Amino acid sequence: MPEPTRLERLLFRLEAQHRSLNWAFGEIRGKQGVVFELGLGHGRTYDHLRRHLIDRDIFVFDREIDCFPDCTPDAAHLILGKFSATLPAAQRRFAGKVILVNSDVGTYDEAYNVEVAELVSRNLPAVLAPGAIVLSDLPLDLPQAQPLPLPQGARSERYFIYRSP
Ligand SMILES: C[S@@+](CC[C@H](N)C(=O)[O-])C[C@H]1O[C@@H](n2cnc3c(N)ncnc32)[C@H](O)[C@@H]1O
Repeated sequence: MPEPTRLERLLFRLEAQHRSLNWAFGEIRGKQGVVFELGLGHGRTYDHLRRHLIDRDIFVFDREIDCFPDCTPDAAHLILGKFSATLPAAQRRFAGKVILVNSDVGTYDEAYNVEVAELVSRNLPAVLAPGAIVLSDLPLDLPQAQPLPLPQGARSERYFIYRSP
């Protein structure tokens, strides 16, 4: 197999994200809890979450609003600010209540990715409900959680799944 091109790497990473999200919807079915979307960006994964999880409260975190206008969360579900401020505050408000996290916060800056992955890893455990699923574009350090393989058909290793105890 030849090395994938950059176009194929992007395609495969988005495919892995898409398959992971769809897999997670089945995993949390029938379980109580809210959803965290870390990284609104253009709102693509938020749009997918809200389309498939119509009865869930989905809280979206970002430092800015830069999404397609029709993908803007309502004010009650948009938590604006740097993760360094909003995630510690979320620990108190959402302790043990989050059943699904999609953390999509990485950039092309590897040093920043290490920093933000550490921030996310430090703040998530307190909010996770029993059996919660965490999906992430960056590897996280969640010692209590079990890393899981990507769903069948994913052709990229660049998405990560964890299940909380
Ligand atoms: C890759 S984009 C998210 C893409 C989005 N999930 C989508 O599908 O369109 C990453 C987002 O994370 C946000 N972000 C990165 N680091 C952050 C930080 N420290 N605090 C708050 N937001 C941050 C950026 O502003 C950016 O919008």
